[in-house]
Amino acid sequence: MSPARKLAFQILVLVEKGAHSSDLLHARTISLDSRDAALTIELVQGCIRRRSQLDWLIRHYSGREKFDIEIRIALWLGIYQLRYLDRIPAHAAVTESVQLTRFAQKASASGLVNAVLRKMDRKPVEWPSRALRFCLPEWLLDKWTRDFGSDRAERIAAASLIPPETYVRVPVSRTPIAERKDLEPTEIPGCYRMLGNETGGFRIQDIGSQAVVPLLGLEPRMRFLDLCAAPGGKTAQALESGVLATACDLYFSRLRALASMNCDKVVLDAAKPLPFSTPFDRILVDAPCSGTGTLRRNPEIRWRVQPEDLPRYVARQAAILTNALALLDPRGRLVYSTCSLEAEENEGVVARVLEDTCGHFQLIREMRRTPGEQPGDGFYAAVITSK
Ligand SMILES: C[S@@+](CC[C@H](N)C(=O)[O-])C[C@H]1O[C@@H](n2cnc3c(N)ncnc32)[C@H](O)[C@@H]1O
Repeated sequence: MSPARKLAFQILVLVEKGAHSSDLLHARTISLDSRDAALTIELVQGCIRRRSQLDWLIRHYSGREKFDIEIRIALWLGIYQLRYLDRIPAHAAVTESVQLTRFAQKASASGLVNAVLRKMDRKPVEWPSRALRFCLPEWLLDKWTRDFGSDRAERIAAASLIPPETYVRVPVSRTPIAERKDLEPTEIPGCYRMLGNETGGFRIQDIGSQAVVPLLGLEPRMRFLDLCAAPGGKTAQALESGVLATACDLYFSRLRALASMNCDKVVLDAAKPLPFSTPFDRILVDAPCSGTGTLRRNPEIRWRVQPEDLPRYVARQAAILTNALALLDPRGRLVYSTCSLEAEENEGVVARVLEDTCGHFQLIREMRRTPGEQPGDGFYAAVITSK
């Protein structure tokens, strides 16, 4: 069995049980060579992204509805390689899925897996619904259609099916890096698109994420509060400006990722009253959100997020933003950001909180990045100052 397929199978089983694919891929592909790592990532993200189509094909070709999870995943992997990838020989895809079935101690299903995969062809399928065509839950595609119009919703949905590009952060003090032909500069200073597989020691950070920090207008020695900081991509970017940073997060375990960063670290619940007495010159609220702008990178979000989650996110985002504004120096600036495409979590939260602060604060600028329209993840950011 190839190491890439075996690891992809193991990760997919864990993701089905609630784990996050990006965390597992990050942690477990480190020991693989770059080709195996790339194939593992492609298989895991591709199967999760195309899950509804893969399940439809399994039902169509087997005539059966119910499968043990391990058999279903062995079939996903086989079908994904046979129908969605060009470079894998059919016999390798079929044989390895049969072996995975045995590896998972489901040998009695190996005949079924073999038979279904041998029927698989690459003929275009007339998907029975628009949601299936775009591999989205019906409610989310309907919501995007209401919010963005049908054409734009379909463009965003189609873009969310494309594997993400990788961007790295090159501290501005180390740019330009003319000697690296495999890093292409972007319009965000210090943000480079990776053309090859090597990061060259630079930190991976999506271009959408890197577009947020410049809105803060950071200068050396400013007091900077990063309220939802982990895993610290934006904190690290902010520290390039020589700010005096305090990085906070609800989870100690997540804040550990910032261990080597030169800043104060505080574990706190930013939705509750905050333990600071001096105001800050700059505050970033990179709020916990539904993440619907990051479906390329976090494909399982499309299947996990539920319509009833949104009001819970909105209540927490509004509480965090309200607490943060109370700590903003009167000449200061706050940036509220999310990687969600949902207006409720973005302009909705900002409008509601500004209204509740009785006209003390004003929205001076908004930034929106939308998959398929700008490169990278979808992001929203609002720049808020005192009036
Ligand atoms: C979008 S992520 C932040 C990403 C981070 N700014 C970066 O660029 O790497 C949101 C973070 O908020 C944290 N969080 C969730 N609820 C929180 C709360 N009530 N108070 C503080 N942090 C919270 C999560 O643990 C998560 O690390």
